[in-house]
Amino acid sequence: MGDYGRTFGEVYDDWYPPEFGDGTAAVAALARFGAGGEALELGVGTGRIAIPLARRGVRVHGVDSSPEMLRRLRGKPGGHLVRTVLADMADCDLGRRFTLVYSVFNSLFCLPDQARQTACLAVAARHLAPGGRLVVDHQIPAGVSPGISARHFHTEEDRFRFSLVDCDPVTQVMDRRTVVVTDGDTVSYRSVIRYVWPGELDLMAAAAGLVPLARAADWKGSPMSADSPGCVSVYRHRAPGEGAKA
Ligand SMILES: C[S@@+](CC[C@H](N)C(=O)[O-])C[C@H]1O[C@@H](n2cnc3c(N)ncnc32)[C@H](O)[C@@H]1O
Repeated sequence: MGDYGRTFGEVYDDWYPPEFGDGTAAVAALARFGAGGEALELGVGTGRIAIPLARRGVRVHGVDSSPEMLRRLRGKPGGHLVRTVLADMADCDLGRRFTLVYSVFNSLFCLPDQARQTACLAVAARHLAPGGRLVVDHQIPAGVSPGISARHFHTEEDRFRFSLVDCDPVTQVMDRRTVVVTDGDTVSYRSVIRYVWPGELDLMAAAAGLVPLARAADWKGSPMSADSPGCVSVYRHRAPGEGAKA
């Protein structure tokens, strides 16, 4: 636990500014779900989403297992608006409930296997107030096939960045090296993720006593299609006697 910030802390905010990956629309949508209440982000990182959400009047709490990511959050303008907790999002109890619990930008994928991801959804359900909403946002990996592929190309003035991804479709694990090339230097950053398909997410949510309410391809509510690059899912608690519908 906690390695993420040691690897990515230094570069995270440069690579992923608040508006990256539709971040602005994410904040607007989450502000509607959290209006008038309190929100909990699982895997809050450096507060890329949590800080702008807190600026919109939602009282935001954030769990993360990386001391380094939380240190960076607290050092940012507006960082004091987010109440941070150093904890494992698959195994924690804050002893209170929230109107909105959310996981964005593939944070769920940081958990190494299905059991821990399911445990994380149980944590989310436990922290959800009656009538509250869980929102989960993640990528849908394109062209999943075994072996190594290169993706995510990004060019800046003096550097070139891309990822080499070794994918195992059986375990759904991607072992990724993000490589930054400058003149005379090459640096590599390793991350291992386990991706989840939307149907699998629904089953994990069902096991946690949650039922799906809505699903879209992005934060603007675009309908899902066969080639949607992402997925935003909304869940609520299953009502007593409602049955375990997924
Ligand atoms: C991809 S980053 C996303 C951060 C933030 N949600 C954002 O949108 O920028 C994933 C975050 O999840 C955190 N994380 C990974 N495993 C965790 C765990 N078991 N418990 C809590 N946080 C974890 C990492 O430290 C990292 O900050």
